[in-house]
Amino acid sequence: QELQLNLEQIEKGGYDHFMLKEIYEQPSAILDTFRGRLLSNEAVIKLAGVEDNMKKFLAADRIIVVACGTSWHAGLVAEYIFEDLARIPVEVEYASEFRYRNPVITEKDIVIAISQSGETADTLAAIKLAKSKGAFVFGVCNVVGSSIARESDAGAYTHAGPEIGVASTKAFTTQITVLTLMALRLARAKGTMSSSEFRHHLIELETIPGKVEEALQSDAYVKTVADIYKDSKNCLYLGRGFNFPVALEGALKLKEISYIHAEGYPAAEMKHGPIALIDEQMPIIVIATKKGHYEKVVSNIQEIKSRKGRIIGIVTKGDVSVKELADHVIEVPETIECLTPLLTTIPLQLLSYHIAVMLNKNVDQPRNLAKSVTVE
Ligand code: G6P
Repeated sequence: QELQLNLEQIEKGGYDHFMLKEIYEQPSAILDTFRGRLLSNEAVIKLAGVEDNMKKFLAADRIIVVACGTSWHAGLVAEYIFEDLARIPVEVEYASEFRYRNPVITEKDIVIAISQSGETADTLAAIKLAKSKGAFVFGVCNVVGSSIARESDAGAYTHAGPEIGVASTKAFTTQITVLTLMALRLARAKGTMSSSEFRHHLIELETIPGKVEEALQSDAYVKTVADIYKDSKNCLYLGRGFNFPVALEGALKLKEISYIHAEGYPAAEMKHGPIALIDEQMPIIVIATKKGHYEKVVSNIQEIKSRKGRIIGIVTKGDVSVKELADHVIEVPETIECLTPLLTTIPLQLLSYHIAVMLNKNVDQPRNLAKSVTVE
């Protein structure tokens, strides 16, 4: 018993929980994800699974992403990135809906299955269905040799290393990293990006591990914010564009480990319903980074303020406007718009973590949830 306990402590590497360890591993996990694949000096991205099937990718009418949970959120971020950079239409599907919907799939479709475990039953069934209709299936998995990795026609591993905490953290950011590499490679092949833009994106991507490290430095402040809001009954997360899926993911993290009801919304949708919920009790986490609809998000924040909602802004370092309106702001370093999700996600993971710890919840193994859902 004691030996078992010590082993676990060693595995946690000095952290109280696997989740915290995994949050802190993100700079190195992201680095591992692009090691040997992103060669910024040569302005090259090497992804064997994409390279070997370039013809198929270039001929594809559209990409359909199938995934569940956090991986589905990574798929939503990918939709914005693929469409913006590579101009390929993308649809993002819950694997569980896709597989039972009699979906229209042809040989000209590429299905990207995203799965940390590579064992999620619905995602596996979705790719089997897609394959039977002649689609090309590309797997983005973390677990090497997993069922989805084996069942896919080609793929790219995330190389995040083992993720033990049930709530996914480093798997999410490394999935986004792989999908960004794919979108960039395809953008170059399709000519939707100039060589200087391409090079600029590679250089920026290379700075992300260092910037994630910097974002992690807000930990102590996030903890004080967590202490203020830990007894909330509800929480709203808002974001636009590339950061709309991050709002969904932030809300999911809070639900999963603290059991506080939380919802993510595109900020502009607030007026179509959630605004009715806003009162002095309601914390609203707004992702308001400098790039990407900043002015519009600021006016959303004004709307919240006039209804007395309590605002926690996730802002770009040095921000002034949001700081004036919000109750709290948490800063992340500046980067190009499509890479902001890799940074804005960090404080949201920390916020959920600290709230769950303060509420004495089982952070690594939340009730009713499983790390890998191998049944329907
Ligand atoms: C479960 C896990 C989530 C995960 C989802 C999809 O619900 O608790 O963290 O996002 O399954 O898992 P996958 O392994 O396919 O990414």
